[in-house]
Amino acid sequence: MSETVYGPVTDWATDFDHGSPAYAANQHKIWDDLKNSGCPIAHTERYGGTWLPLTHEMVHSIAYDTDHFSSEGPVVGQLKPSEVPDRIGAPIGPVPPISSDPPFHNEARRLLLPAFSPKMIDPWRDEVIEICNKLIDDMGDADHIDAALQYSQHIPVMVIARMLGLPVEDGDKFRGWVNLVLSGIGEERTEERMQKFMEFNEYLAYHVTDHKENPREDLISFLLNAEIFGEKLSLEHAVGTVILLLIAGIDTTWSGIGSSLWHLATNSVDRRRLVENPDMIPTAVEEFLRAYAPVTMARVVKEDMEFHGVQMKKEDWVLLPFPAANRDDKQFANAHEVVIDREENRHAAFGLGIHRCLGSNLARLEMNVAVEVFLQRFPDFSVDANEMVTWSTGQVRGPRTLPFVVNARA
Ligand code: HEM
Repeated sequence: MSETVYGPVTDWATDFDHGSPAYAANQHKIWDDLKNSGCPIAHTERYGGTWLPLTHEMVHSIAYDTDHFSSEGPVVGQLKPSEVPDRIGAPIGPVPPISSDPPFHNEARRLLLPAFSPKMIDPWRDEVIEICNKLIDDMGDADHIDAALQYSQHIPVMVIARMLGLPVEDGDKFRGWVNLVLSGIGEERTEERMQKFMEFNEYLAYHVTDHKENPREDLISFLLNAEIFGEKLSLEHAVGTVILLLIAGIDTTWSGIGSSLWHLATNSVDRRRLVENPDMIPTAVEEFLRAYAPVTMARVVKEDMEFHGVQMKKEDWVLLPFPAANRDDKQFANAHEVVIDREENRHAAFGLGIHRCLGSNLARLEMNVAVEVFLQRFPDFSVDANEMVTWSTGQVRGPRTLPFVVNARA
């Protein structure tokens, strides 16, 4: 993985780059070093000016403060939202509801809620079990597997593509676009990124239009029937929401599953406990979500303002590192320890405030089933010491390669 277009980082407090491979590999250490050196909020001129608050209190207060911080740019880019050509601005934003501000946000979110309720998500359990088992069957009887390339990266793609009504065989395309939007933020020049993004948009516009002409029983057809302010959604709104669901549904859960398996491969005591007590898995998954929270979201400063002693300027980016909030000692006892039977665990992995994750029922289902099936089939596995575990860059963090040695199969 190469450096971003901005070059190597010179100082994490004043020149950090959350798109750099060094940040992806050492996130927690970088945050701890910053906090220990008396810097609870870091800054960089990169991406046109970006802030990185590190305490739970700061992340919480920004997430709840929709008067001063807009969701118009949930992912930091090389262009500010106002510089993006033909951009749908606040309060709607390009990918509602995650890019929307009140009062529009409430309506755009409300129309999606029924599709992600436990009643709609629970029935997917058997299908997710089948997907996980089939992926393991496809590994044959090899002693060396890659649990990211052969397992975690496929599960959420297969589930969300089926839910939306998109071709499951286009999984590679979806992962490529997810990578473009979330991981490659600092890798390529803006023009190349925009060209690829247009292809993504056109692909989905084609499928949404096809669903309009040939309605089916899936999430895209559900969206096309939904109403906002008494009217059907515009094509732009529907396509924007499908983009969001595809992106939010894939990278996040892929990362969550991968980090959980990485933990179990590197902590044999925890692995054995879960193999012997599978009913502990849901509690352990909550702890994996807390300790290895994959998602950092962004906000855009609405007007020049002071925040905890720093001067933020209109249109500055502000990152919301929910993973850092989850490791704050003031919020959690032994925050840096992974305690798989932690009793009290009000973690922020799914966000805080009005944008709290809409897909959390689905994410939890996929993570629980993925861990459960993996442990059933591979009760003993470890990281292959001769190969590298690699981590994604950008605002969603999780392992992208997980070379494992299978020590026992069931
Ligand atoms: C482990 C997996 C997941 C994690 C950690 C996660 C995390 C998050 C976070 C932190 C937010 C808040 C964003 C913000 O404050 O700007 C969010 C919002 C959202 N997530 Fe997830 N997510 C996961 C899986 C999913 C899945 C599977 C879906 C659905 C397919 C989904 C759909 C959404 C949507 C639609 C929003 C926007 C809600 C709003 O703006 O009101 N997420 N997610």
